[in-house]
Amino acid sequence: MGLNGTVQVPGDKSITHRAFLFGGIASGTTRVRNALEGADCLASLQAMQSLGAKVERTADEIRITGTDTLQEATIDCGNSGTTIRLLSGILAGGEASYTLDGDDSLRRRPMKRILEPLTLFGAKLDGETAPIHITGTPLVGTTYTLPVASAQVKSAVLLAGLYANGETTVIEPVLSRDHTERMLPQFGIDISIDDFEDGRHIRLQGPARLRATAIDVPGDPSSAAFWWTAAVIGQESRITTTHVLMNPTRVGFLQTLRQMGASVEITNRSETGGEETADVTVETTALQAITVEGEQIPSLIDEIPLLALLATQAEGRTVIRDAEELRVKETDRIETVVAALKRLGAHIEATDDGMIIEGPTPLQAADVDSAGDHRLAMMLTIATTINPEITVHGREVVEVSYPTFYDDLKKLQSGIPE
Ligand code: S3P
Repeated sequence: MGLNGTVQVPGDKSITHRAFLFGGIASGTTRVRNALEGADCLASLQAMQSLGAKVERTADEIRITGTDTLQEATIDCGNSGTTIRLLSGILAGGEASYTLDGDDSLRRRPMKRILEPLTLFGAKLDGETAPIHITGTPLVGTTYTLPVASAQVKSAVLLAGLYANGETTVIEPVLSRDHTERMLPQFGIDISIDDFEDGRHIRLQGPARLRATAIDVPGDPSSAAFWWTAAVIGQESRITTTHVLMNPTRVGFLQTLRQMGASVEITNRSETGGEETADVTVETTALQAITVEGEQIPSLIDEIPLLALLATQAEGRTVIRDAEELRVKETDRIETVVAALKRLGAHIEATDDGMIIEGPTPLQAADVDSAGDHRLAMMLTIATTINPEITVHGREVVEVSYPTFYDDLKKLQSGIPE
């Protein structure tokens, strides 16, 4: 049975985090519309409340009144890497002591990548894995070249720069998602961006206080990607996702879909709060294998579990390389994706920095587990749309980034073809 219809996916996770965190330190009241109210982003919102920000909800927006003193707090960041890493940047220059902790998955993820640059500012913090202990201290601006393409590290450095005396520069040899650089100017911060031979230089002057603004959060392309995949590999399916973020650093998966031969229609292009949006319609098509590597990887890193699923249905050998960052996500996504798809009969092998998939293979009935990883739970649920005999355990983790995922699935399953 095919999937048909139109979905407005929830707000973008990366943008919602930033709206909550930045609103929490801005002077005045920031209004956020279409925020993603998943567990990850709520961890950021609650963190700002424990630090002194005030939060009020109305029928259609969340209002955050920022605090100018960051009071002492112990913060549970849950499953959220974005919360712990961006918050560390904010708190390094705070006035008190802070402890940032999280669940078992977050406690396994590397934090040295933020300790290193923050120490260059003079920050006092420890914890190569969570819990991180921070003693707020006066900071001095610095220049830092990112050793990995990570928007979380880049953002932690820029946020520390807001509290530091003097100039802070982040040099980014490989582009990562740029929502922090796009959103800070909305909060009145001057950012200069220049492309040089060694990469993109992003610069700001500190200390600088944010001024409240209004943010309308576009739909999350990493959530829409589940429906694009379902449409392509389904039978006579056609799905439209509306008002989806089209930021160039986030659309790698759509480009890959096109390269694999999928029919992707982009309409209603628009702009909101410094970010492009559009409606995206995808329908069932035969797919060709592809190689995905290098600078493409950061633009589709969170969609690689879906790319692996697509590759099981594509003609030929798909190679994903240069994606070793997958090993330090909510799970080691090279291992968890390969293990789960193998159970479904896919011809897939892990490599050090990615995976190799031979297709097409019909997916067979089996029990599979999300391993507590939200993106794995949703990818495997999309696999059930081509074989309903597949059973997915640990489904509730979708709460992290897409609480209404199963409702949207039901709606599309009962959708009538156009
Ligand atoms: C994010 C950055 C990426 C991404 C994550 C969200 C962000 O992580 O995988 O889901 O909002 O900055 P890295 O910074 O570790 O690449």
